[in-house]
Amino acid sequence: MITFQDVEKRYPDGTLAVESLSLELPAGKTTVFVGPSGCGKTTSLRMINRMIEPTSGKITIDGQDVTTLKKAELRRGIGYVIQNAGLFPHRTVLQNIMTVPKLNGVSTAEAKDRAFELLDTVGLPREFASRFPTQLSGGQQQRVGVARALAARPKVLLMDEPFSALDPVVRHELQEEFARLGPELGTTIVFVTHDIDEAVRLGDRIAVFEKGGRLAQFASPEELLTSPANDFVASFVGKDRGYRALSFREVGTEVRPVVSIKLGDSTSGLSAPGAAVVDQSNRYLGWVRPGEANDSVSSLEQKPRVHHGDTLRLAMDAVLTSPDGLAVVVGDEDRLVGGIDLALLAPMLQGDGARP
Ligand SMILES: Nc1ncnc2c1ncn2[C@@H]1O[C@H](COP(=O)(O)OP(=O)(O)O)[C@@H](O)[C@H]1O
Ligand SMILES: [Mg+2]
Repeated sequence: MITFQDVEKRYPDGTLAVESLSLELPAGKTTVFVGPSGCGKTTSLRMINRMIEPTSGKITIDGQDVTTLKKAELRRGIGYVIQNAGLFPHRTVLQNIMTVPKLNGVSTAEAKDRAFELLDTVGLPREFASRFPTQLSGGQQQRVGVARALAARPKVLLMDEPFSALDPVVRHELQEEFARLGPELGTTIVFVTHDIDEAVRLGDRIAVFEKGGRLAQFASPEELLTSPANDFVASFVGKDRGYRALSFREVGTEVRPVVSIKLGDSTSGLSAPGAAVVDQSNRYLGWVRPGEANDSVSSLEQKPRVHHGDTLRLAMDAVLTSPDGLAVVVGDEDRLVGGIDLALLAPMLQGDGARP
């Protein structure tokens, strides 16, 4: 666990970058510092590994005041990843990843093995080991940066806008992988971003900062989206918050009943929007409209479908892409459960409705 106890940072020119910050960052989890530019996120992060010293207050890691350790010793236990990776340009990928373990006296053979494993961890082919940073794309360099930071098995990982310089597609890809990787590592991660969507995707806990380094709210992503603490947080989190909050709820039993018929049954008596076609075991095969052919699976319409347990956000995407605004809900072995539509989802888009 990392704690900030009444931490303040005033730069020599008088700028108050962080104001009496008190926080407890849970061990083994990802805490995101988010807020607009200049609100003190980087300053707060860098006080953890003492690249910046607080003006007053105390920071502890697992109960130990960071100022009681030598800086070099402190930093050996802390990985650090920045925008544009900050790799050594004249060293290969492998050498970059091996840097800290070698400094720590790990044998070359062991450091090498570990480096190759880390290439797997961050999703890079092992052939990249002998390349130089300039021979990699931005996203690949960033992956090497993460591998290098993890090489010394740090108990704390600090990440300052690591994905912010990447184009949106690569950025999203790395976010998704990191969302999987973070929980596996068991490392206490502090992740800085100005992007609320990234914060919600990656954070177990989110600290929202206001200008002047004031902590506006410290909460779980869900709590942040559904109950912003004040107007600043509400506007920063934005008007899409109901939609984002749908990520935390699952498609359950609140469905709309739909008419179902068997393959081969007549469709002449149906009314709009039609019926789900099922087999003898009630497994969903496709959708048919009134009067349309119902003699083979290939003639059926493939309506967007969602599964029990999918997020409501996924259901919303399905509903919005369905021509008539209806998505089919299936359960185990694709058995028909019902339908879901905008009328069912809309009330959940309001802040209050999105609460569990
Ligand atoms: N070395 C410095 N000297 C004076 N002011 C600084 C220095 N570094 C940052 N600041 C100021 O401190 C505030 C917080 O900066 P920073 O922590 O970098 O914010 P963020 O990472 O949230 O964008 C800003 O007003 C910034 O201009
Ligand atoms: Mg910053």
